Amino acid sequence: MARSLEALAGKGHAGGNIVETKGLSRCYRRGPHEVWALRDCDLTVRHGEFVSITGPSGSGKSTLLHLLGCLDQPTKGTYLLQGVNVAELSESRLAFIRNHVIGVVFQAYNLLPTLRAWQNVALPLAYRGVGRRERRRRALAALEKVGLADRAEHYPFELSGGEEQRVAIARAIVTEPKLLLADEPTGNLDSRAEERFMDIITDLHREGRTIIMVTHNASLARRADRVLAMRDGRLDASAGAA
Ligand SMILES: Nc1ncnc2c1ncn2[C@@H]1O[C@H](COP(=O)(O)OP(=O)(O)O)[C@@H](O)[C@H]1O
Ligand SMILES: [Mg+2]
Repeated sequence: MARSLEALAGKGHAGGNIVETKGLSRCYRRGPHEVWALRDCDLTVRHGEFVSITGPSGSGKSTLLHLLGCLDQPTKGTYLLQGVNVAELSESRLAFIRNHVIGVVFQAYNLLPTLRAWQNVALPLAYRGVGRRERRRRALAALEKVGLADRAEHYPFELSGGEEQRVAIARAIVTEPKLLLADEPTGNLDSRAEERFMDIITDLHREGRTIIMVTHNASLARRADRVLAMRDGRLDASAGAA
């Protein structure tokens, strides 16, 4: 198990599937009420694929993304991440995966207001125990990639919404994750910032990263290799087979 996890975090990959879910389901309970936010989701994503997920509000897109990001556990079903059954991992192994394998970008950027842009980007490396000089070097490289090298010393309040979102992307990619999950990442951006964001995503895809992006925007969704639709907690079977 440990060996496959290390392989998972390594640079190369053997090809095949990075994500494989079977019957993945998530039920939220509120007192006597049950909401099946995700129902019997069978999803297979190949290494290096760019998949987008669309669907109306409340259809279960964020629930699915949280499960794929190992931020939540399913009520039923299985999730194999490059063949590793996530449910069998200890909390410390899950933390390793979240820090080494997966990068997440949410609609709310969640930047820490008291840290400069580069320090926000460097946070995941701090959790790994990377030294300050090396953290700064890698954070600046990630900021360079999103076209924000000149904003490294700025605080979040000194940045535009689009710039904050790019800092959040830099933070998600500073660890060089294989799997990048983005949940309505352009929801708060104007069309120019959105275009810029999509250019970055396209570059990351070309580098060989696997990308799963939730979006309301049909024209952005179509830029993916494959578009999946969700409705009432279910992945549209016809879209899934495409
Ligand atoms: N923490 C929660 N507790 C209870 N119900 C939730 C929770 N999170 C989401 N839900 C419900 O699950 C369903 C799917 O939500 P979500 O995955 O956020 O949908 P989407 O991202 O497609 O808008 C909705 O009915 C929502 O109200
Ligand atoms: Mg959502």
